[in-house]
Amino acid sequence: MKYSVKDLTLEEKLHLLTGKDNWRLETAHGKLPEVYLSDGPHGLRMHDKADPKRIIPATAFPCLSVLANTWDIELAYMQGNTIADECIENGADVLLAPGVNMKRTPLCGRNFEYFSEDPFLAGVLAKSYIEGVQSKGVGTSLKHFCCNNLEYERFYLSSEVDERALREIYLPAFETALKAKPWTVMCAYNAVNGVFASENEYTLRDILRDEFGFEGLIVSDWEAVRSSWRAAKATLDLRMPYSPDAYDELKTAYDNGWLTEKEIDARVTKVLELIEKAQNDEKKITTTKAQRHEKAVEIARAGIVLLKNEDNILPLQSGNILVDGIKNGQPVFGGGGSAFITTDYKSKTLAEELAARMPSASVYSSCALLFSNYVYESSKEKKDLYEKAYHADTVVLCVGTNTQLETEGYDRETLRLPVQQEELILNTSKINKNLVVVLNVGSAVDMRAWINEVKAVVLAGFGGEGMQEAVADILSGKACPMGKLSETYPLCLEDAPSIKDKVDGYSICYGESVFIGYRWYDKKQKEVLFPFGHGLSYAAFDYSDLQVKKMSETDYEVSFTVKNSSPVDGAEISQVYIRDPFASVPRPEKELKGFAKTVLKAGESKRVRVTLNARSFAYYSTVKKGWYVENGDFEILVGASSKDIRLSQRIVINLPPNEQQSQ
Ligand code: GLC
Repeated sequence: MKYSVKDLTLEEKLHLLTGKDNWRLETAHGKLPEVYLSDGPHGLRMHDKADPKRIIPATAFPCLSVLANTWDIELAYMQGNTIADECIENGADVLLAPGVNMKRTPLCGRNFEYFSEDPFLAGVLAKSYIEGVQSKGVGTSLKHFCCNNLEYERFYLSSEVDERALREIYLPAFETALKAKPWTVMCAYNAVNGVFASENEYTLRDILRDEFGFEGLIVSDWEAVRSSWRAAKATLDLRMPYSPDAYDELKTAYDNGWLTEKEIDARVTKVLELIEKAQNDEKKITTTKAQRHEKAVEIARAGIVLLKNEDNILPLQSGNILVDGIKNGQPVFGGGGSAFITTDYKSKTLAEELAARMPSASVYSSCALLFSNYVYESSKEKKDLYEKAYHADTVVLCVGTNTQLETEGYDRETLRLPVQQEELILNTSKINKNLVVVLNVGSAVDMRAWINEVKAVVLAGFGGEGMQEAVADILSGKACPMGKLSETYPLCLEDAPSIKDKVDGYSICYGESVFIGYRWYDKKQKEVLFPFGHGLSYAAFDYSDLQVKKMSETDYEVSFTVKNSSPVDGAEISQVYIRDPFASVPRPEKELKGFAKTVLKAGESKRVRVTLNARSFAYYSTVKKGWYVENGDFEILVGASSKDIRLSQRIVINLPPNEQQSQ
């Protein structure tokens, strides 16, 4: 250790446990180098040090919800690794990302900023993202620990979670991502079972530190600390941002013996370790601004999900193509709040990008650039669009939400699109049935009002500054869609686990327990609009020859063949789920425990391998207080989505009693 608590006075130590301002750590009167923290998961969101009101322009990468739809750990690594270049360029030492909170409800305002409703998928992608950032000597902050699954009253609400749901749903993504050794973990605003996350000894000390072995620094979310000394007692190390009360609170606690010098030194040591980590020579920039943009396009393209493609209307054929809708000209790259990125990239309209890729087609718009707030400026514009739609061979309508409707701090009121956009879709479909809808949204959408009136739906998501190019690549057939949903799109909000009726004062009861996302819809046997893991392609993939090789009583190698039986090159994301048909506790019908993305040229076959281990089969036993593999039957399911199971095989696990409990 280069820096030691021995070189610091008590005053200097206590000041180190609170930020110097919104983004910087204290320096003990200059004894220590300055460390700078900065958002966020979709790119560098950094205030100009010389002019704090100005946000430095940065590359706007796709939101984590789009990155998750790629199911691609290499792209997750690449997104983190590339954002790290802009951190290095601008002097940010720690990137406050990624967020791995589960999508317990499709209404959560920050779903665009999180990976998934499934902890396995979120965990492996977050781990890779962290590795990408930190490989460049820039730190990360795995957030928000924990059970921060709603924006409603987030500063006060207590998430009332049963132990199995905590262990099997809300913690595993953190547990997996911790394997990448993030420099910091950020605690959430909310309380967990009645105790604020910033001072929750059970979650911070007993679980995160003692059980999960986290040795880095625990930082608070901004203004999440209510009592500096109780937070320090619970092993939170750094209160952000600067608080004028923090020093006195800590000093009073020390003087009264509530907080010992040993406890203070333990927290200060974590701050010193972070400061030391930030002084490294791994900070090498390897990309240009243009290359970062191309990477943003690549991730956006891989994260595009082809949800519907009736009559194979896509990829577009030549002819007259009308591209319209507010997002044609005014795309939303990301949701609102601390994750919003200010880019200076001047994106073209989707129509322009499409025309560039389809020179033989006649691609035009009507008035999209004139749209504002989802309504036409006047009936003239409407008439203009409808007349053009009448004469077009195909119409592409770009619709979606925006940074007011999907943002940190607020939840959505509805899953439906703004009514004017639904009307635009329905009115246009009456004029031209060859209608393709491009969705520029951050989370699940209720499409019941119009889904049957359109031939294709392309989910672009909040795809960052490269979204228009990526969508044009897919619509034109220059690229084959390969993304799959990382969250369920339910038919309607009423089918999702309800939330507001369980909000009782300042607590919200996670009554659905482990049954969130596809686990919920499976258990309730509810039909969904588009299932978890769903995504169409221009190619076609056949699954065959499932082999389950037993390496030990709980370690298996699952292998199967995937063949691209089409004339189109593509990529297939295969998913491996397990099912315990006779569990002694309520278990989901299936649980994702592995996946693989396989690039397949036209006609090509490949053998795909996924490994399973004890944790893949275990549930968390609240009686045994640990992960427990129950002996008996299990099924291994291989699917193109959670609802499109192609292969399956039964196995029997028969462990000696002393081996049934695992970590
Ligand atoms: C915000 C967010 C957190 C962000 C931090 C700094 O309130 O909850 O994700 O990193 O404060 O902006």
